[in-house]
Amino acid sequence: MELDRVSHVCVPGTFDPVTYGHLDVIRRSCHLFDRVTVAVAASYSKNGTGRVFSLDERVAMIREAVADDPDCSNVEVMGFEGLLVDLCHSIGAGAVVKGLRAMTDFEYELQQADLNNLMAPDIESVYVMGSREYGYISSSIVRELAALGRDVSFLVPRCVEERLAARFGRA
Ligand code: PNS
Repeated sequence: MELDRVSHVCVPGTFDPVTYGHLDVIRRSCHLFDRVTVAVAASYSKNGTGRVFSLDERVAMIREAVADDPDCSNVEVMGFEGLLVDLCHSIGAGAVVKGLRAMTDFEYELQQADLNNLMAPDIESVYVMGSREYGYISSSIVRELAALGRDVSFLVPRCVEERLAARFGRA
Protein backbone atom coordinates (compact mmCIF):
# COMPACT_ATOMS: atom_id res chain seq x y z
CA MET A 1 0.00 0.00 0.00
CA GLU A 2 1.41 3.39 -0.97
CA LEU A 3 1.49 5.77 1.99
CA ASP A 4 0.45 9.39 1.53
CA ARG A 5 2.00 12.15 3.64
CA VAL A 6 -0.51 13.24 6.30
CA SER A 7 -1.24 16.96 6.55
CA HIS A 8 -4.83 16.94 7.81
CA VAL A 9 -5.65 15.16 11.09
CA CYS A 10 -8.66 14.65 13.25
CA VAL A 11 -8.61 15.10 17.06
CA PRO A 12 -11.74 13.25 18.20
CA GLY A 13 -13.42 13.02 21.56
CA THR A 14 -16.55 13.58 23.55
CA PHE A 15 -15.17 16.74 25.21
CA ASP A 16 -17.81 16.92 27.94
CA PRO A 17 -16.40 19.42 28.65
CA VAL A 18 -13.12 20.34 26.93
CA THR A 19 -10.27 20.63 29.46
CA TYR A 20 -6.77 22.14 29.50
CA GLY A 21 -5.54 18.59 28.83
CA HIS A 22 -7.54 18.39 25.57
CA LEU A 23 -6.46 21.90 24.57
CA ASP A 24 -2.83 20.88 25.06
CA VAL A 25 -3.31 17.95 22.64
CA ILE A 26 -5.12 20.20 20.14
CA ARG A 27 -2.39 22.86 20.31
CA ARG A 28 0.37 20.30 19.84
CA SER A 29 -1.47 18.75 16.89
CA CYS A 30 -1.62 22.22 15.33
CA HIS A 31 2.14 22.44 15.68
CA LEU A 32 2.69 19.03 14.05
CA PHE A 33 0.16 19.11 11.20
CA ASP A 34 -1.08 21.68 8.67
CA ARG A 35 -4.76 21.24 9.34
CA VAL A 36 -6.56 19.97 12.47
CA THR A 37 -10.23 19.09 12.71
CA VAL A 38 -11.51 18.67 16.24
CA ALA A 39 -14.35 16.16 15.94
CA VAL A 40 -16.88 16.11 18.74
CA ALA A 41 -18.82 12.84 18.99
CA ALA A 42 -22.59 13.34 19.19
CA SER A 43 -23.32 10.28 21.24
CA TYR A 44 -21.26 8.46 23.79
CA SER A 45 -21.65 6.24 26.78
CA LYS A 46 -19.79 7.23 29.89
CA ASN A 47 -20.47 6.07 33.39
CA GLY A 48 -19.99 8.14 36.52
CA THR A 49 -21.58 11.56 36.62
CA GLY A 50 -23.23 11.24 33.19
CA ARG A 51 -23.51 13.63 30.32
CA VAL A 52 -23.63 17.37 31.05
CA PHE A 53 -23.49 19.31 27.78
CA SER A 54 -25.29 18.92 24.45
CA LEU A 55 -23.32 18.45 21.24
CA ASP A 56 -23.87 22.09 20.27
CA GLU A 57 -22.61 23.30 23.64
CA ARG A 58 -19.54 21.05 23.50
CA VAL A 59 -18.68 22.31 19.99
CA ALA A 60 -19.29 25.95 21.00
CA MET A 61 -17.00 25.71 24.06
CA ILE A 62 -14.09 24.36 22.02
CA ARG A 63 -14.58 27.02 19.34
CA GLU A 64 -14.51 29.70 22.03
CA ALA A 65 -11.49 28.19 23.76
CA VAL A 66 -9.36 28.15 20.58
CA ALA A 67 -10.72 31.36 19.01
CA ASP A 68 -8.01 33.74 20.22
CA ASP A 69 -5.17 31.25 20.41
CA PRO A 70 -2.56 32.08 17.76
CA ASP A 71 -1.26 28.50 18.00
CA CYS A 72 -4.66 27.21 16.86
CA SER A 73 -5.23 29.19 13.67
CA ASN A 74 -5.36 25.92 11.68
CA VAL A 75 -8.19 24.37 13.73
CA GLU A 76 -11.77 23.68 12.73
CA VAL A 77 -14.31 22.26 15.17
CA MET A 78 -17.26 20.11 14.13
CA GLY A 79 -19.73 17.64 15.59
CA PHE A 80 -20.16 14.19 14.09
CA GLU A 81 -22.36 11.13 14.29
CA GLY A 82 -21.44 7.61 13.28
CA LEU A 83 -17.99 6.13 12.84
CA LEU A 84 -14.86 8.20 13.28
CA VAL A 85 -13.12 6.52 10.33
CA ASP A 86 -16.06 7.43 8.05
CA LEU A 87 -15.71 11.05 9.16
CA CYS A 88 -11.95 10.95 8.46
CA HIS A 89 -12.63 9.66 4.94
CA SER A 90 -15.33 12.25 4.29
CA ILE A 91 -13.17 15.24 5.38
CA GLY A 92 -9.92 13.86 3.98
CA ALA A 93 -8.11 13.47 7.33
CA GLY A 94 -5.31 10.90 7.13
CA ALA A 95 -4.82 10.33 10.85
CA VAL A 96 -6.46 10.48 14.25
CA VAL A 97 -4.50 12.21 17.04
CA LYS A 98 -5.22 11.51 20.70
CA GLY A 99 -3.48 12.20 24.00
CA LEU A 100 -2.19 9.47 26.29
CA ARG A 101 -1.97 10.12 30.01
CA ALA A 102 -1.42 6.95 31.99
CA MET A 103 -1.34 3.20 31.35
CA THR A 104 -5.06 3.16 32.04
CA ASP A 105 -5.59 5.18 28.83
CA PHE A 106 -3.43 2.78 26.86
CA GLU A 107 -5.67 -0.30 26.82
CA TYR A 108 -8.74 1.73 25.87
CA GLU A 109 -6.86 3.57 23.13
CA LEU A 110 -5.26 0.39 21.80
CA GLN A 111 -8.67 -1.23 21.46
CA GLN A 112 -10.05 1.76 19.56
CA ALA A 113 -6.95 2.02 17.37
CA ASP A 114 -7.13 -1.71 16.50
CA LEU A 115 -10.79 -1.44 15.63
CA ASN A 116 -10.28 1.69 13.52
CA ASN A 117 -7.33 0.04 11.77
CA LEU A 118 -9.41 -3.04 10.93
CA MET A 119 -12.16 -0.86 9.47
CA ALA A 120 -9.87 1.67 7.76
CA PRO A 121 -6.19 0.67 7.42
CA ASP A 122 -5.48 3.91 5.55
CA ILE A 123 -6.23 6.03 8.67
CA GLU A 124 -3.22 6.26 11.00
CA SER A 125 -3.52 6.57 14.79
CA VAL A 126 -1.07 9.02 16.37
CA TYR A 127 -0.62 9.64 20.11
CA VAL A 128 0.93 12.54 21.93
CA MET A 129 2.00 11.99 25.53
CA GLY A 130 -0.01 14.24 27.83
CA SER A 131 2.00 17.09 29.32
CA ARG A 132 3.02 16.42 32.92
CA GLU A 133 0.97 19.28 34.37
CA TYR A 134 -2.25 17.98 32.81
CA GLY A 135 -1.82 14.25 33.52
CA TYR A 136 -4.50 14.17 36.19
CA ILE A 137 -7.18 16.12 34.29
CA SER A 138 -10.20 14.36 32.84
CA SER A 139 -13.64 15.57 31.83
CA SER A 140 -15.22 13.21 34.35
CA ILE A 141 -13.20 14.79 37.21
CA VAL A 142 -14.27 18.24 35.99
CA ARG A 143 -17.94 17.15 35.88
CA GLU A 144 -17.70 15.66 39.35
CA LEU A 145 -16.05 18.72 40.95
CA ALA A 146 -18.42 21.13 39.19
CA ALA A 147 -21.45 19.11 40.29
CA LEU A 148 -20.19 19.54 43.88
CA GLY A 149 -19.92 23.29 43.29
CA ARG A 150 -16.10 23.29 43.53
CA ASP A 151 -13.64 25.54 41.72
CA VAL A 152 -12.55 24.09 38.36
CA SER A 153 -10.73 27.17 37.03
CA PHE A 154 -7.37 25.32 37.13
CA LEU A 155 -8.75 22.54 34.90
CA VAL A 156 -10.78 24.30 32.20
CA PRO A 157 -10.82 27.60 30.29
CA ARG A 158 -13.05 30.48 31.41
CA CYS A 159 -15.79 29.80 28.83
CA VAL A 160 -16.22 26.27 30.23
CA GLU A 161 -16.00 27.37 33.85
CA GLU A 162 -18.81 29.87 33.27
CA ARG A 163 -21.08 27.31 31.66
CA LEU A 164 -20.43 24.84 34.48
CA ALA A 165 -21.19 27.54 37.06
CA ALA A 166 -24.44 28.37 35.25
CA ARG A 167 -25.38 24.67 35.29
CA PHE A 168 -24.31 23.70 38.80
CA GLY A 169 -23.74 26.95 40.67
CA ARG A 170 -20.56 27.87 42.57
CA ALA A 171 -19.50 26.92 46.09
O1 PNS B 1 -13.35 11.39 24.63
P1 PNS B 1 -13.26 9.92 24.30
O2 PNS B 1 -14.20 9.11 25.12
O3 PNS B 1 -11.87 9.38 24.38
O4 PNS B 1 -13.71 9.81 22.77
C1 PNS B 1 -14.03 8.55 22.23
C2 PNS B 1 -14.37 8.71 20.74
C3 PNS B 1 -15.50 9.70 20.55
C4 PNS B 1 -13.14 9.17 19.99
C5 PNS B 1 -14.78 7.29 20.23
O5 PNS B 1 -15.78 6.79 21.05
C6 PNS B 1 -15.25 7.32 18.80
O6 PNS B 1 -14.44 7.32 17.90
N1 PNS B 1 -16.59 7.33 18.61
C7 PNS B 1 -17.20 7.35 17.30
C8 PNS B 1 -17.77 5.96 16.96
C9 PNS B 1 -16.68 5.04 16.46
O7 PNS B 1 -16.02 5.32 15.47
N2 PNS B 1 -16.50 3.91 17.16
C10 PNS B 1 -15.48 2.94 16.79
C11 PNS B 1 -14.15 3.26 17.38
S1 PNS B 1 -14.17 2.98 19.12
